[in-house]
Amino acid sequence: MKPYCIIGQNYSINNDIVKQYCTDKINYTQKIFPDGERYIRILDTDKISEKDVVLINTLYPRQNDSFIETLFLIDALRKTPVKRLITIIPYLAYSRQDKQFLPGEPISAEIIIKSIRLAGADQLIVIDIHNPESLKSFNGCAINVLVSDILVKKALEYVDNPIIIAPDKGALGRVKYAAEKHSLEYDYLIKSRDRNTGEVSMSPKELKVHNRDVVIVDDIISTGGTIALAVKQIKKQGAREVIVAATHGLMIGNALEKIKNAGVEKIILGNTLGIKHNDNIIEYVEVLDKAFKLLN
Ligand code: R5P
Repeated sequence: MKPYCIIGQNYSINNDIVKQYCTDKINYTQKIFPDGERYIRILDTDKISEKDVVLINTLYPRQNDSFIETLFLIDALRKTPVKRLITIIPYLAYSRQDKQFLPGEPISAEIIIKSIRLAGADQLIVIDIHNPESLKSFNGCAINVLVSDILVKKALEYVDNPIIIAPDKGALGRVKYAAEKHSLEYDYLIKSRDRNTGEVSMSPKELKVHNRDVVIVDDIISTGGTIALAVKQIKKQGAREVIVAATHGLMIGNALEKIKNAGVEKIILGNTLGIKHNDNIIEYVEVLDKAFKLLN
């Protein structure tokens, strides 16, 4: 039997996915008390008692509210009680703080993941988490779904035999995965970040991009600084068309403008967030489907 699905209010899911993978969608109400505290209540609890349930909620935008909402939903489902509770988080906020870069910092990714487990999730599925190693903190079945192959497949509609480039060594895993799936060449740039100011810089590195199309693959576009720097370096080395493919397109402030000014004509993004940006160079692709396929 297919599981019941409950969709967090931060995420709007494609109805075809619900029809294909869920027995039914479970509703819940929520309200905010005058002091700002959140209340949720799951409806139709009879339907899901002792049944498998999949909870889908993304943690952007409104990271902190969505996180609390997710924990409350998990707790309420556990108390229903449901049988198996699988939590799909298309975008796991705080994943970039995956270690203590400076003394006195928390490991934010770790505490977010541990809390989801502690609240009662049996299984956690995330899409392209910044560092898959962070999932060890779940201490149970936690799966990272790489979707760079899907993003690059879409990019291949616009470019010819491109080389795939990671903007830093940390992105190499997702780049290698996509490049090998599509039998393409790949390489990476060398990026460093000043841990106090947050400023990003890129060391010069020769790449085989001259007279070639390039797809830059990354997990997150936030301010667009990383992508803009990468594009500049790649263009300086004589690349033809440069396309960007990123799983989570936060696109904060003037990120889009920065990337366009660097010379990018197409940005492919996954549908992992609770917001979408409207611009003729941005194209969204369905990636949640791959997470649901793991349930079969
Ligand atoms: C960091 O290592 C991530 O993989 C992204 O490259 C980064 O978060 C992008 O941030 P921004 O767009 O602000 O440069």
